[in-house]
Amino acid sequence: MGNIKRIGLLTSGGDAPGMNAGIRAVVRTAIYHEKEVYGIMRGFDGMIANEMIPLTSHFVSNIIHRGGTVLKTARSEAFRTAEGMKQAAAHLRKMGIDGLVTIGGDGTFRGAVALNTLCGIPVVGVPGTIDNDLSGTEYTLGFDTAVNTALQAIDKIKDTAASHDRLFFVEVMGRDSGFIALWSGVAGGVEEVLLPETETDIDRLIELLAQRKKHRKSAIVVVAEGDEAGGALKIAEKINSKGHAFDTRVTILGHLQRGGDPTAFDRILGTRFGAMAVEALLGGESGKMTAIAENRYQLVPLADAVATSRSPDTDLVRYLRMMST
Ligand code: F6P
Repeated sequence: MGNIKRIGLLTSGGDAPGMNAGIRAVVRTAIYHEKEVYGIMRGFDGMIANEMIPLTSHFVSNIIHRGGTVLKTARSEAFRTAEGMKQAAAHLRKMGIDGLVTIGGDGTFRGAVALNTLCGIPVVGVPGTIDNDLSGTEYTLGFDTAVNTALQAIDKIKDTAASHDRLFFVEVMGRDSGFIALWSGVAGGVEEVLLPETETDIDRLIELLAQRKKHRKSAIVVVAEGDEAGGALKIAEKINSKGHAFDTRVTILGHLQRGGDPTAFDRILGTRFGAMAVEALLGGESGKMTAIAENRYQLVPLADAVATSRSPDTDLVRYLRMMST
């Protein structure tokens, strides 16, 4: 199958549960097709530093159930420079790598496209980010696990919020993306979600909370960290300064959403995407990303995936508001 003999594999950007399942699938699919795989450590930083190790079937034993990435990851500043990219390309050539699988988000794919343009090595991307904001795919590795982690926290906060008749602002991750906030908010049955993609109207929120107070004693508002009106602390401060009837608390979930055992969904997604990426490369594909859209696993152009970011479904925002009346 194909002329490719040695595949390079890296994870880059923020880690996401399910990346290890993807790594395992890439390695074992390549071995099944009698190809070699080299792991590039710490993303593009490791490519520049020539930190590449041969990966065996044994290396990926017992990792499918673990969060994080055994290849480690980084947000490489050096790779953004012409010199860094040149060095990275030279190391790939020196190592005889003739195909590349990159697991990560939009920054990773921009790097992959640039590298492909510079040295012509075929590249296939696997979407891995808890933010789920890549165009072309409805799910990215790690999103399902992160939503469930946020949801467990919201469920627990609900108990204490109800016991003390309090208003909680729960901040979840998403610098530019409201997917985790919206999905955990709908599943958690919260009163409101504040997303970077929609404008936050503080006066409307105060009005909504006042209405809520008439028939419910506690409330939860989920705030995406990148909301344009500020994070949970800032929003709580703004709301409190205008006065309302609730006793308020803030919980910031932070990086615990990035770790933990991947859900079955993320393990299966990692397995499918990893296997698909290798078979795509061996089938002569390049410049593509593995994706799931309209219930179908498919390859989409990497360039499309990074051209725009994907926003959450506005119908779901509307339904959340209907549910919280
Ligand atoms: O890209 C995923 C993400 O978890 C974002 O939701 C968050 O804003 C960012 O990474 C945090 O990045 P870092 O771990 O580099 O601080």
